[in-house]
Amino acid sequence: MDSQEWDQRYAGTELVWTAEPNRFAVAELQDLAPGRALDVAAGEGRNAVWLAARGWQVTAVDFSAAGLDKGRRLAQARGAAVDWVRADVRDYQPEAASFQLVLVAYLQLREAELDGVLRRAVTALAPGGVLLVVGHDVTNLTEGTGGPPDPAVLYTPESITRSLGGLTVVRAERVRRSVATADGHREAVDTLVRAIRD
Ligand SMILES: C[S@@+](CC[C@H](N)C(=O)[O-])C[C@H]1O[C@@H](n2cnc3c(N)ncnc32)[C@H](O)[C@@H]1O
Repeated sequence: MDSQEWDQRYAGTELVWTAEPNRFAVAELQDLAPGRALDVAAGEGRNAVWLAARGWQVTAVDFSAAGLDKGRRLAQARGAAVDWVRADVRDYQPEAASFQLVLVAYLQLREAELDGVLRRAVTALAPGGVLLVVGHDVTNLTEGTGGPPDPAVLYTPESITRSLGGLTVVRAERVRRSVATADGHREAVDTLVRAIRD
């Protein structure tokens, strides 16, 4: 989907996602000491705002103006300050060695483009910094619910870790989350990768 399609998706007043942070972001990041964080493809800002409210200095990047506007409103409602940046992450070059955390959550790009994004995310990490990548796993097509139907934009643990040269991979696995659907609760399958810059 291009930025106009995302703008259309975010056009209503209701949040497309939720105001609450992703559960894996919470579980993986809640014990980190705050520093500078980069939220890549931040969408409506649920994770960026949660981090900012916990004391992080957050830069949130997305190419959807409508998504970022919703993020700004959420931040205002929560009294959180976030630096919102409208940019295409396929070109965006973050400051090198500057962030204690880079988060990439549910960014749907083809593998070659995602590889470039992840390699730039690696260079953005300060020594000791954490990279957390979460996204729809390819097995979600057969074993899970929701998410994009195009396998070209779905992750595997290996498809992510192969872009993370220079980092120590701490976790690279498939994780499941419960999703409320019209047919009751179903499970979605995600890839989760956590890595550290030594
Ligand atoms: C599924 S949403 C996830 C949003 C957010 N990370 C979250 O977890 O709530 C995917 C986001 O990626 C953004 N996106 C997709 N391709 C992008 C690109 N090339 N540059 C910047 N943002 C992009 C979309 O605008 C959308 O907000």
